[in-house]
Amino acid sequence: MCGIVGYIGKEQAAPILIEGLSRLEYRGYDSAGVAVFDAESGSLAVHKAKGRLQVLSEQLHGGADLDSTVGVGHTRWATHGAPSDINSHPQMSRSGKIAVVHNGIIENYTELKGFLQSKGVPFVSETDTEVVAQLIEYFYDGDLLQAVGRVLRRIQGAYALGILCADCPDRIVSVRKDSPLILGWGEGCNFIASDVTAILRHTRRVSYMEDGELAVLTREGIRCYNHLMQPIDKDVVTIDWEMDAAEKGGYEHFMFKEIMEQPEALRRCLSPRIRNGEAVFEDFSLSEDYVKTMNRIYIVACGSSYHVGMVGKYHLERLTRIPVEVALGSEFRYMDPIVDEHTLVIVISQSGETLDTMAALREARRLGGHILSIVNVVGSSIARESDQVLYTWAGPEIAVATTKAYTTQLALLSLLALFLAKRLGTVPEGDFQAMLAAFKELPDKMEEVLSRRDDIQYFASQYFHHNSIFFIGRNLDYALGLEGSLKLKEISYIHSEAYASGELKHGTISLIEDGTLVVALSTCDKLFAKAMSNVVEVKARGASVLALTVESRKEEMSHIADAVMTIPDIHDLLLPTLGVIPLQLFAYYVALMRGCDIDKPRNLAKSVTVE
Ligand code: G6P
Repeated sequence: MCGIVGYIGKEQAAPILIEGLSRLEYRGYDSAGVAVFDAESGSLAVHKAKGRLQVLSEQLHGGADLDSTVGVGHTRWATHGAPSDINSHPQMSRSGKIAVVHNGIIENYTELKGFLQSKGVPFVSETDTEVVAQLIEYFYDGDLLQAVGRVLRRIQGAYALGILCADCPDRIVSVRKDSPLILGWGEGCNFIASDVTAILRHTRRVSYMEDGELAVLTREGIRCYNHLMQPIDKDVVTIDWEMDAAEKGGYEHFMFKEIMEQPEALRRCLSPRIRNGEAVFEDFSLSEDYVKTMNRIYIVACGSSYHVGMVGKYHLERLTRIPVEVALGSEFRYMDPIVDEHTLVIVISQSGETLDTMAALREARRLGGHILSIVNVVGSSIARESDQVLYTWAGPEIAVATTKAYTTQLALLSLLALFLAKRLGTVPEGDFQAMLAAFKELPDKMEEVLSRRDDIQYFASQYFHHNSIFFIGRNLDYALGLEGSLKLKEISYIHSEAYASGELKHGTISLIEDGTLVVALSTCDKLFAKAMSNVVEVKARGASVLALTVESRKEEMSHIADAVMTIPDIHDLLLPTLGVIPLQLFAYYVALMRGCDIDKPRNLAKSVTVE
């Protein structure tokens, strides 16, 4: 929810921190701050500003105003205390000796604050983070590590922390529990960061901190400790993707760049997994016997990843005949789910850090389920805690509204459904081959849809002024509508809802009046006639209908709908993966025409690491 970066080395720290933070703004962008050790005064210099990072950066001339070679920085997405200069991080202890940047939530901060206040410690902010800074100072008697250790035994909740102390300016202390934090190993310099992109310009060598671990960074190296404060060795991995992948590369917005990258992302995700007429999951560790005794599949996820699960349910049930439940991460652990050792729990997450999804994973594990995750960010917490991981290989996704992560997740889950069906013997070989062939065609067909983006831009220009838009569809088209509607509302702020077409007559139709825009999704051939009836139904109540269908049905649809978007015909299994492209583009162009901040929509963050 917030972004952390820390640097200790020989170069000027502040420009490195500000540049690093600019790559973490997707995690939160309501305020930002840095703390550096100022050698001349022998104290910590702290600068914070409400608003985008740019405000802080302008105040500090990109960091050039600060002379220091060690510091920590933070970009915030407010949870405790409104966005303000005072509530921004770093938070300081009363004497200004300790500075803390924090991602997560300290759940028992009220109690700890009360305790400190009873000892006469004054507080200036409304944040939970200030409690950590004050508590470290309270326990500090010259040994920072020991003070941090005592604090860790008292705080509850989720946290990634970067800590500076004016008394020991040759080190940064970092801690992680339930919030991501990586360590970056440089030459004569070292880093902490919430995400690799923040430090990739400086080093490709990183270690992923595990829950309960603590690290002390100096210019010479990084020492790591487990929760018992025993020294440990960490694996160092080398990041193999290029920095360009996390830059706009000439596009106006990350979202547009990521929309356009989808065919390539799909090739990366699918081609190693389709070989010699087979779906190949080298990373699949479930035995033939286990697959045959699976009695239930749960799909657990949040946001767009949950919508992937909604499509996945249709595919998995149809192909494997195993009952599938789709649950929101935030609901799963409170619904007393029926999970045992014969339950496969598929956890879907782009970031691999969503707290609700992670909590659901742990609950499923506790109940004995086998955890298979579909994740984009390599080495993320969900990936590491799963029994097995299928990576989507979509590359870094920066825009808050997901696009290429959604399509790669969906394609991968669809391929997994097919793979399981083959193992179970529930799909005839001819059908299996037809579906496999469709996967091979998918990236090219997607390119075709993207090349016709001007048509979608035109439709957006016709409809961008609407204030309420409904998406309707049946079966796969209903699941697709959920994502189309979410995409639109999150970046354009237009009120939008998705309904199963059959439900219209049970209430929603009362909302349709003259000029209401209905986006009618009708890509599934077997339900086309029913979808047409629903279009007629809403047209009769005065709705304007923008339809989405396959090319072979365009003409028929044109007779009734006001406007028709199309995708090439493709096997049902891949209709939603292809069908989402016009909906992503529609949302993008509508938001563009309304002048919205597309990559950083208000109140939203890409990685939601709080409950
Ligand atoms: C946030 C993002 C969404 C994403 C959801 C789940 O809300 O804005 O795009 O679908 O989190 O994230 P995950 O990383 O678990 O897929």
